[in-house]
Amino acid sequence: MSNIEQTLSIIKPDAVERNLQEEIKNEFNKNGFRIAKEKKIHISKDEAEQFYKVHQSKPFYNDLCEYLSSGPIVVMALEKENAVLDNRKLMGATNPKDADEGTLRKKYGISIDKNSVHGSDSVENANIEIDFFFKG
Ligand code: CMP
Repeated sequence: MSNIEQTLSIIKPDAVERNLQEEIKNEFNKNGFRIAKEKKIHISKDEAEQFYKVHQSKPFYNDLCEYLSSGPIVVMALEKENAVLDNRKLMGATNPKDADEGTLRKKYGISIDKNSVHGSDSVENANIEIDFFFKG
């Protein structure tokens, strides 16, 4: 039985600033993801706070929201079988220092904040996050 899913991916400001979006999109294509939806946007801090609401009690929440709204980002709905888990494997650990060789965060990430990409952590959150950017 096929298990086609979509997951939300964000190419974060540090990667867009270094003009890595085509290279990173190429990695998604090479790894079997179809880019079903895509747009380049610059969100406000308020929007970043809504997007990262699950992290609102964390000490890094304010910096995280400042950062995501600091420059343009590319948001995408990526589609393939097991997209959520496979994208998390492709991204690697949150902290680039801990990420395995060959993962996106190992290749492109600079720090735990400037870790180049975001990906949904569950199918449920993927639907919420895709709606957040693409609904309407
Ligand atoms: P992301 O997958 O976008 O989800 C939340 C982000 O918070 C995470 O990537 C990191 O860039 C950032 N972050 C900053 N500090 C931490 C931390 N201590 N633990 C987890 N995430 C952190």
